[in-house]
Amino acid sequence: MLTLGIETSCDETAVAIYDSDKGIVGESVFSQINMHAEYGGVVPELASRDHCLKIISVLEQALGKGNIKDIDQIAYTSGPGLLGALLVGESFAHGLAAGLGIPTIPVHHLEAHLMAPALDFDDINFPFISLLVSGGHSLIIDVKGLGDYTILGESQDDAVGEAFDKVGKLLNLPYPGGPHIERIAKEGDPKKFNYPRPMIHKDNLDLSFSGLKTAVLYSIQDLTDLESNIPDIAASFQRAAIDVLVSKIKKSLVQTKRDTLILAGGVAANSLLREEMSSLEIELGIKVRYPAMKHCTDNAAMIAYLGSLKTPNPSTQGQSCARPRWPLNEV
Ligand code: KG4
Ligand code: ZN
Repeated sequence: MLTLGIETSCDETAVAIYDSDKGIVGESVFSQINMHAEYGGVVPELASRDHCLKIISVLEQALGKGNIKDIDQIAYTSGPGLLGALLVGESFAHGLAAGLGIPTIPVHHLEAHLMAPALDFDDINFPFISLLVSGGHSLIIDVKGLGDYTILGESQDDAVGEAFDKVGKLLNLPYPGGPHIERIAKEGDPKKFNYPRPMIHKDNLDLSFSGLKTAVLYSIQDLTDLESNIPDIAASFQRAAIDVLVSKIKKSLVQTKRDTLILAGGVAANSLLREEMSSLEIELGIKVRYPAMKHCTDNAAMIAYLGSLKTPNPSTQGQSCARPRWPLNEV
């Protein structure tokens, strides 16, 4: 069974093909990041237009020498995400499916992130804790099985990646700020600025990053020379954000007694976060796994894979299922 996956929920145009016997047999991603960098963030209208421009060539790259007529079904991200961007992927999926006479399967983007580790590891068994940290999400989820997810904690305001990007902007770093903050933080003193660790002492597993970003803003306003302080600010901010994530993840693992932690989302690229989470392997006797970076960030392999686990629903064929907001517990 060959499932074609299509992802266009934000600023990546991605297509992949999942073979139920062999795994991923083709995948391609085009990132719009350079186009949006000029504006310091994703511009929804430009994202939709660019998905329209790129989707056919991304499909051709993913297919390689494969034949589109061999595809059995098409899974596509139907939410959550930018409405215009979602509609491009959905319309493309519906058109292609009608032409080929095959069914479509609308897929939840976050559910696909949760299942993505199975693309890279054979030793992942339910249940596990997933830390999903990207530009749009900061979630701690108890994954008990396919379709059985409990959100244990989530950001009450900015996502952690968003906070990295906003602090990057304050430090005059290029968009997205996350990787630049990590690079510059290596030369800085993480103890120089004593930034808050929002909600770290709260009993619950919720997160908050907007107060931390504001604390960085205020500290900058007090400085006469920003330039020479950038490495210390970056290091102190990164340390504070990661301290909160580590503390809440530890709490979630102790509370649920789960023995596996999986990281996903663009912030999972951060090496300090990886080191800190890996140290929990010994401290808590758990298994920590990071899927390949290409499967941590937005991709279509995870969409095709999740689609392959589902059965096409006759009532969604040819119907618009796009949901910009779609809580994970409504999957
Ligand atoms: O998952 P992703 O590629 O896209 C979505 O947000 O959907 O995540 C992008 C986010 C951005 O906020 C970016 O700044 C952050 O991940 N990021 C990082 C690092 N690399 C990417 N944040 C911290 N450290 C990094 N090395
Ligand atoms: Zn994503």
